[in-house]
Amino acid sequence: MANETENISIEKSDSTKINSVDFSNLDFGKVFTDHMFVCDFENGEWQAPKIMPYQAMTFEPSARVFHYGQAVFEGMKAYKDADGKVFLFRPKQNFERINKSAARLSMPAFPENYFFEGLETLLKLDNEWIKPGIGNSLYIRPFVIATEPAISASPANSYRFMIICSPAQSYYNSPVRVLVAEKFSRSANGGVGAAKAAGNYAAQFYPTSLAQKEGFQQIIWTDADTHTYLEEAGTMNVFFRVNDTLITAPVSDRILDGITRKSIIQLAEDLGINCEVRQIKVEEIKTAAKDGSLKEVFGAGTAAVISEISAFQHKDELFEITGAEDSYAKLFKQTLMDIQYNVSEDAHGWRREVK
Ligand code: COI
Repeated sequence: MANETENISIEKSDSTKINSVDFSNLDFGKVFTDHMFVCDFENGEWQAPKIMPYQAMTFEPSARVFHYGQAVFEGMKAYKDADGKVFLFRPKQNFERINKSAARLSMPAFPENYFFEGLETLLKLDNEWIKPGIGNSLYIRPFVIATEPAISASPANSYRFMIICSPAQSYYNSPVRVLVAEKFSRSANGGVGAAKAAGNYAAQFYPTSLAQKEGFQQIIWTDADTHTYLEEAGTMNVFFRVNDTLITAPVSDRILDGITRKSIIQLAEDLGINCEVRQIKVEEIKTAAKDGSLKEVFGAGTAAVISEISAFQHKDELFEITGAEDSYAKLFKQTLMDIQYNVSEDAHGWRREVK
């Protein structure tokens, strides 16, 4: 693997789009910064990485990604503190996960030094796009696609690894209403549910659009075999608070090993909140909603941060969740963001400064 070189060739943009962006009114993922990172895999090796102006790319119509969906991605964020210092949050986890996802889709691993040098150089070039202030961030999207022009159904011989960045505020502007899946499935045992594979998201769009027609923004997926266990929400892992205990599903080959999810499990331990990682029956949560012991439901993810879930429907039963005064969702969100924005101590060494 050609991963010894540390030189990234940089072609700077001769203009910036930044002045046309309203940073106080951002729709998630619609605006991109001035530069992007690109590295091609050819002849069994990752080639010299480049940073260039953000631009459209040309691929042959036969590029394998268009036919067999060999595509994986990550979601990360950069945060700026009050002194203008820039931080990433647990970025090694994203690096490791994109390579795990790639391996599951028979794609080559990306070298760690290329990942971090590429990312940090890009962030330094587009530093102005990272706005200070709690809630502002730069969403970072590393991804890999199969570029080889060939349509036999087999893994490609050429790939492109890229990083693009988009200034972000919140993903969901208000509490989310969710439908519990009864028929459709997001993933199956032995499948690719644990990978951040592009197709996992495409597969959700149709059932989610049906749910949206009924007034729900998201689906909470259940196990494909029996639809009796609650799993994840597709853009977020899910936590349930029953009385003062937090419950979340264990990761498996069906569920994404969310970095926000594992951070919350750790923060719960730090804060003395009991957190059970175990299978959760839909019926258990419905019973808790009926007897008043279900205090909160919230989702956790990089884009969504922590999003309160205000209602869920299963079959014909709709449950409104009024929320607790001593909200765990708010407590975790504050605690997490204080770490991410360099406001509080970083007891677990989760921040990485981009110097
Ligand atoms: C993220 O939280 O980074 C995700 O990947 C969710 C995304 C589909 C917006």
